[in-house]
Amino acid sequence: MELILIGFMGSGKTTISQLLARQYQRPVCDLDSAIEAASGQSIPALFAQGGEGLFRQWEQRVLKSVLTRPGILATGGGTPLKEGNRALLKATGAPIVHLRANPAATLARIGNDPTRPLASQLDQAGIAALKAKRHAAYQDCATLTIATDRQSPAAVAAAIARALGWPPRP
Ligand code: S3P
Repeated sequence: MELILIGFMGSGKTTISQLLARQYQRPVCDLDSAIEAASGQSIPALFAQGGEGLFRQWEQRVLKSVLTRPGILATGGGTPLKEGNRALLKATGAPIVHLRANPAATLARIGNDPTRPLASQLDQAGIAALKAKRHAAYQDCATLTIATDRQSPAAVAAAIARALGWPPRP
């Protein structure tokens, strides 16, 4: 991978990865979609069948298999929680960009989303608490952190490109 996006659910990983992939004509991989393709099950179905533990096993297995591909990777919000996953991400040597949004913006983006089993029951305080618990794991592997709640996706993509020394794209 040439660029890895990490961050909490609803921080913009999928949107920004697709935007950058289009602008720079790079392949894009969405880890959640790759897990669904590899397991043949939706994420809610994996959680229903074997809880978060089963999902995390699939996540680590699929992460290992996609990291050698070229392009841009959008991870899942919980991917950096396992130390082993953080080691895998760091070992790529690729820039790891932590996308951040405040709890209110996060709730507006993901509130009541049935496809996100860990978020569907959370209110704003619950999101703030889970984000706080995860913050150190995100920061442990991030090489760059960018807020996505105060600027448009295009501005976020441009800021990442600038930081990486990629030439500007319309
Ligand atoms: C998760 C985030 C989800 C998905 C799964 C678990 C998490 O990805 O991997 O529901 O633990 O934060 P998104 O960040 O793309 O929603």
